Amino acid sequence: METIFSKNLERLIKDIKHQEFLTNPLVSEIVESNRISENDVANYVSYNHSPNESYGRQLIYDNGNFKILLMSWKSGDFTAIHNHGYTEWGCVYFFGDATHRLYSVSNNELKILQKANFQKGQVASVCGDLTHIMGNSSSKNFTTLHIYGSNTRKSEVSKDAIVYLPELEREVTTMGSAFLNMDKQLILSEKPMIKAGNDVIADYFSLVKPFYERNGLVSILKNMEKGLDSRSVN
Ligand SMILES: [Fe+2]
Repeated sequence: METIFSKNLERLIKDIKHQEFLTNPLVSEIVESNRISENDVANYVSYNHSPNESYGRQLIYDNGNFKILLMSWKSGDFTAIHNHGYTEWGCVYFFGDATHRLYSVSNNELKILQKANFQKGQVASVCGDLTHIMGNSSSKNFTTLHIYGSNTRKSEVSKDAIVYLPELEREVTTMGSAFLNMDKQLILSEKPMIKAGNDVIADYFSLVKPFYERNGLVSILKNMEKGLDSRSVN
């Protein structure tokens, strides 16, 4: 059975498909001009996601070379620190105010580049090597619309996304999901975490702690405390 989309979503998909070569400014312009509302994506809201998924992640459309998802963020929901695999162009449209950190990865070290948050109505560009974390530090639920695409790949555009999990001292790859406390089935490969300074770790733990507390994941919370203690000694 073919999925029926709202007129705005239908037009958004058509406008993206129509382009032979997409860039970040172009996809942002297309999203802005189509004025997608929360009504258009109401069928994909998933605040009641499982605790193994640290935010709601619902696929709206996958054309092979690009896909559209709706993420749902209830209070305390967060991604891990992650990038976007093979994504060559894309964007996020915010239906609410999101907490955000931008990181750099160079010489095998993760550093914070920017702590600016995103506001309702903003469009942010995404590409494969964009490394960031986003989530909901407020008490109000909100959703975000995500588009990831490629001009060269015909499928699995966000495959081999790297997800950094300092609380487990691991770095994993996935098909695109960036959940905290992730189900093992979603992990394609894993290795020890790259270097990260005390400021990066303390800030990260303060952001994701509410998620682990809400789900009673005591052993991971202890790991985080132990990690911070051993770092303050050194
Ligand atoms: Fe992301």
